[in-house]
Amino acid sequence: MKVDLQTKRVFDEAFPQECYNQVFSVPFEYPVYFTRNLFAPENELFAAVVDRLGEGRRHRLKVFVDSGLVQAMPGLLDKILSYVADRSDQMMLAGTIEIVPGGEKAKSDTSLATHLVEAVAESRLCRQSYVLVVGGGSVLDLVGLASSLVHRGVRLIRVPSTVLAQNDAGVGVKNGIDVRGIKNFAGTFAPPFAVLNDYDLLRTLPKKYWLGGIAEAFKVGIIKDDKFFDFLRSHAKKLRGRDEKAIEWVVKRCALLHLDHIRTGGDPFELGSARPLDFGHWSAHKLEVLSDYQIGHGQAVSIGIALDTYYACLKGFLSLSDRDLIIDALEETGLPLWHDLLAMKTHKGTFAILQGIHEFQKHLGGRLRVTLPKGIGDKVEVHDMDPVVIEEAIDRLHARAILHHVDFF
Ligand SMILES: NC(=O)c1ccc[n+]([C@@H]2O[C@H](COP(=O)([O-])OP(=O)(O)OC[C@H]3O[C@@H](n4cnc5c(N)ncnc54)[C@H](O)[C@@H]3O)[C@@H](O)[C@H]2O)c1
Ligand SMILES: [Zn+2]
Repeated sequence: MKVDLQTKRVFDEAFPQECYNQVFSVPFEYPVYFTRNLFAPENELFAAVVDRLGEGRRHRLKVFVDSGLVQAMPGLLDKILSYVADRSDQMMLAGTIEIVPGGEKAKSDTSLATHLVEAVAESRLCRQSYVLVVGGGSVLDLVGLASSLVHRGVRLIRVPSTVLAQNDAGVGVKNGIDVRGIKNFAGTFAPPFAVLNDYDLLRTLPKKYWLGGIAEAFKVGIIKDDKFFDFLRSHAKKLRGRDEKAIEWVVKRCALLHLDHIRTGGDPFELGSARPLDFGHWSAHKLEVLSDYQIGHGQAVSIGIALDTYYACLKGFLSLSDRDLIIDALEETGLPLWHDLLAMKTHKGTFAILQGIHEFQKHLGGRLRVTLPKGIGDKVEVHDMDPVVIEEAIDRLHARAILHHVDFF
């Protein structure tokens, strides 16, 4: 096959039809800021971001806020309202601020997703207007999906309000909802216009979600960055005790590792089936569904990491001492390593969690690709997961849970 570089016309003796090869690329760019007290009257950051393309116009802004955050921070809505009112030459609210139910349950309510599409549509936004979403990963995913659909995409500014959303969910290019009992079954790839991480929003976060975000940080450290893992391990007690300096460092480091992965990993829109950052997630996603979302994403990820860490050790990718370093560090941070649903059996007598492997493969398409730790700070990709070894890993994890008797849930 030959391609005429001028016209991109393709000549192929085997298939003599006329063909013009369409090739172009679009650079994506979005800033990720780390700040405090974002909507304080004197903080000019948000206004600067809205005008970051120097359009010098008055932008319409449709605002969505997570219900859990509104409950925990009752003054927040007024703060946003007066921030916008003080800059009425630069921005104006499109309709009222919409409160979106927080948490994973909302992500599996497809009628809510439809409602949000309508809410964005009714706000008469043009493609130079903004959707501002403030909330946890679930609300960001929901509102992100809605705003990527209206007019085939309006500008989205994310203000993540959980540790997990600031260091993972909020800084990437994906959004989605759960359909048919499958996590993230429907969604789009849509890079945001900007991300503003405000550490002060984390103050009201319940312990479960504070710790849950640290599980994602462990995930990245274990497979990508041994120094980051060492930091997490040596600061486990501080992180558990909500030390602000420690969490800020972890959020920033983890977010930057994510950005680096998206920018340099060669597959930002996940067209292939490799998903290194899904370490620990095949079982985590299944656990969330099996628990009817009673187990939070971060907690499920911690258990998923523990299971795959035992598995990797049984397979010879990880020494016993590295395995125990990982497991002890998760436990010291206050993250769960076990849930009885891991041992739940189907009517056929097999572990229900194993179904997660098939669903994971279906989601990725093509060959199964599961990332496991290879030592600490490096990874290996495997194409099959031996059910007998998984069961052995579950048994060992269970034995440890009984011995240590840490009742997390
Ligand atoms: N799009 C992606 O790339 C990506 C990546 C990782 C995870 N995720 C998704 O993110 C979701 C998990 O997000 P999460 O861990 O942020 O949890 P979450 O969004 O489900 O929020 C957890 C709870 O905290 C409340 N909340 C949010 N901010 C608060 C605050 N500052 N103070 C008090 N309460 C607050 C919410 O109302 C909710 O009840 C999962 O659905 C997961 O699949 C998406
Ligand atoms: Zn995750």
